[in-house]
Amino acid sequence: MPRLNRTVVLALLIATSSIFLLFQLYYYRQYVSKHGPLALSSKGYLAGKEAQWHLVKKFLGLARKFSLPVFLVDTVTLSLLTQEAELLKDSQLKEPHCTFLCTHRHFITFGLLGNVWKYDAALQDAAEERGLELLELRGKDPRLVGMDDLTGSEIPLHLLIRSDGHLLVHVVVLYERSGNYLWHGPLRLTPGIDHNFAPFRKLDFGRYAGAYDRPELILTTLDGLDVRLPKNFSHFLTEHSSSRFLECRYREAAAFYQLYPDDPSPEAMDFRMKAKSLLHLAARVLTELQVPFWLSSGTCLGWFRQCNIIPYSKDVDLGIWIKDYRHDLTQAFQRAGLPLKHKFGKIEDSLELSFQGLDVKLDIFFFYEDGDIVWNGGTQAKSGKKFKYVFPRFSLCWTELVDLRLRVPCETLDYVVANYGPEWNVPVKTWDWKSSPPNVQENGVWPIRERDDVIQVY
Ligand SMILES: *[C@@H]1O[C@H](CO)[C@@H](O)[C@H](O)[C@H]1NC(C)=O
Repeated sequence: MPRLNRTVVLALLIATSSIFLLFQLYYYRQYVSKHGPLALSSKGYLAGKEAQWHLVKKFLGLARKFSLPVFLVDTVTLSLLTQEAELLKDSQLKEPHCTFLCTHRHFITFGLLGNVWKYDAALQDAAEERGLELLELRGKDPRLVGMDDLTGSEIPLHLLIRSDGHLLVHVVVLYERSGNYLWHGPLRLTPGIDHNFAPFRKLDFGRYAGAYDRPELILTTLDGLDVRLPKNFSHFLTEHSSSRFLECRYREAAAFYQLYPDDPSPEAMDFRMKAKSLLHLAARVLTELQVPFWLSSGTCLGWFRQCNIIPYSKDVDLGIWIKDYRHDLTQAFQRAGLPLKHKFGKIEDSLELSFQGLDVKLDIFFFYEDGDIVWNGGTQAKSGKKFKYVFPRFSLCWTELVDLRLRVPCETLDYVVANYGPEWNVPVKTWDWKSSPPNVQENGVWPIRERDDVIQVY
């Protein structure tokens, strides 16, 4: 018996120590993969971090001296912050490590509130004195461009501040626009600009123009430096992923009005005014419910073709993804003074809601995704016939119409051509929604037993 015991004990010992060894190995691998080269602290890497930290410190010093209203918008830093709120506390307590401001990238991005920035040309010299190179990229001021003035003056859109030839602070200038949102311009390299000044393709901002809610800012200490950043950084990051902004095509719209002068009648003015306030009201209701929507059909065509509401269009058309449908939608519109006029279809098929505004109707079409197309349905009340309008897939972009920030399909031309055909640029006053659109398809009839449910007219 004692002999057997010894063998068992020995075997147990060997087993436990092997397991312990494996565990150590596993833990070590986890640790290395999580903390990466930082844990291994290669000298060159740390030196790079130190240089990054010093650049940010110099930049913030410059920003203080010139009262630049800057705040951190770097997507890598902000997502580190969302993941590691605990790390943030640590970094504020302990002696500064560069955890947030020095990322694996060679640049860091700040936003600058353009409207409260007092431009000072001495900034360039001051940057040079500190051993920094400053590149300013300008572009048209969209707040001045419109149908009446296609020229627009140039304003600073992006600042690039470089040290040691490769570390960079990218400053995105954000301007407040009339729809009460912040806008930044695209980053365009004009002739004479050094294409190697910055890793332009890798930057987070500037590939397209962008639009954001004005963020509430907080002042905090990151890696021992005082910086301002959006209070709700996860909200800012969500916005960043769908921030692309399309400017209206003012030049083409002006050309359109040359061919087809605008209707100056009081009726047309009156309709536009009512449609505008209906659009403002609908936007408020849907934004409060956090339901994304876009300009559809005639309202989208009006924006795309003439940067305005088409006065003879009779209604306002919006699109919403069916996945964003909410059961309290109808109630919310009713509370806002827009009673339901009709409801066609059901959530699973061809849903369409109409609300009655003052003389102007609000049509909401729900869009269904199906492979590489999307579609919305139509219903003829008296016959129970169903129709289907098919579009190529699209993503959503911000734009501005009637002093409002709104979404439109980014691939607007494809959307408009699908709906109105290649002759979309020619006004048509007689339009039959059941037969005119090139993308309409007959889609059977609603079964009699379902009619009361899928055809509701008030
Ligand atoms: C922050 O933004 C997220 C995402 O938009 C939102 O769900 C959350 O309620 C916001 N948090 C606060 C405190 O406002």
